[in-house]
Amino acid sequence: MEASRRTFLGTCLVAMAAVISAASAYPIWRYLAPRKINPADVKVGIPVKEVLEGEAKFFDYAGSPAVIVHKRGGGLEVFSAVCTHLGCIIQWEKEKQDFLCPCHGGRFSADGTVTGGPPPKPLNKLPFTVADGTITIG
Ligand code: FES
Repeated sequence: MEASRRTFLGTCLVAMAAVISAASAYPIWRYLAPRKINPADVKVGIPVKEVLEGEAKFFDYAGSPAVIVHKRGGGLEVFSAVCTHLGCIIQWEKEKQDFLCPCHGGRFSADGTVTGGPPPKPLNKLPFTVADGTITIG
């Protein structure tokens, strides 16, 4: 009888400690966890004049890096700047007019297609419109 009471009290103490630990850890986890942003709800406006021909402009889109390219000869493209291989951030190489992924040497053309290295698919294009001198992404 005494042993089962002791067992019961021990079980209650362990359960209470677990509940108190979970209640204490949850606010910390909520604070540290990354925010979930729905990209469909995000719109970013960038003046057209900030992206000169032959240049690329990096910006934050829904908590993730993105890039606008103003191709030589005209035309804009907007991509996620996250490499489709293992997720490194691509870099614009103005002289070559393409993107380099510094992690494993992946290369993408100015229209996002893979031109070299291990990336399995093109850069992810982001929807955009141009009106009144502003590029609106999203
Ligand atoms: S992460 Fe970009 S080439 Fe590997």
